[in-house]
Amino acid sequence: MTNQGLSISAALRKRFAEARRVVVLTGAGVSAESGVPTFRGGGQSAVWKGMPFDKISSAAMLERNLAEVWEWFDYRRGVIEKIEPNAAHRALARWQERFEDFTLVTQNVDGLHQAAGSRDVIELHGNLWRARCMSCRRKYDLRDRESEASRTYACADCGSYLRPDVVLFGEIVPGGAFERAAAAAARCELCFVVGTSALVYPAAGLPEVAKAAGAYVIEVNPERTPLSDLCDACVQGKAGEVLPLFC
Ligand code: OAD
Ligand code: ZN
Repeated sequence: MTNQGLSISAALRKRFAEARRVVVLTGAGVSAESGVPTFRGGGQSAVWKGMPFDKISSAAMLERNLAEVWEWFDYRRGVIEKIEPNAAHRALARWQERFEDFTLVTQNVDGLHQAAGSRDVIELHGNLWRARCMSCRRKYDLRDRESEASRTYACADCGSYLRPDVVLFGEIVPGGAFERAAAAAARCELCFVVGTSALVYPAAGLPEVAKAAGAYVIEVNPERTPLSDLCDACVQGKAGEVLPLFC
């Protein structure tokens, strides 16, 4: 394992230039430079009305107090609404044009990859801008201010409550998303792990899948994580400063 500092070695650059199949896994750190608070580390921990995020963002809370869960998600959307993608999101949007086979997998629910121009993003944890009916599972775009459902959080079809279309603590990642991500990881040559503490599974298992299948794994994070030892290279720096150095 090598530690690269803030420049990218010629060897890493060559790997990047020659790769055809690339997978990138991102976490909250990729949005940190846009001003989105991360969940862990960095001094700020996400607390809402005295409740840690893993309590307010939980399946148990959904049953106990749906209104409060919505208040927390409304607050998060309010924060993200004013925020722009950063240099890391923009670099990743450019990368999709460069490689024969490129898959962007994110744990983030902020929609900033798409705002930067990334297409077909695999969103393992859902999206803050979507709601879904708790009975019939119909999905709603909360950006659509015209729709009554986005104001009342009641389903237009069946009248049941809507919930955020986001994976909460105590819930499993929706079927299909992880499988597609794992298939891409198993066939990639180069795998980037960017801005994630790599503590939450199954997402954190993707670099392990890539590594086991023979890929070269590069971590981009100012800090070390439980995955650092598995990685072939760790570039210790901010995503918005490091990713644009590759091309
Ligand atoms: P975390 O908040 O756990 O970790 C953020 C990571 O980003 C840390 O390792 C930081 O060192 C790193 N970081 C901070 N600033 C950075 C920067 N400018 N550039 C690069 N890295 C930076 O966030 P996640 O790993 O994404 O799940 O958390 C995983 C999941 O835990 C989230 O998706 C969320 C949470 O529970 C759900 O909501 C289901
Ligand atoms: Zn419904």
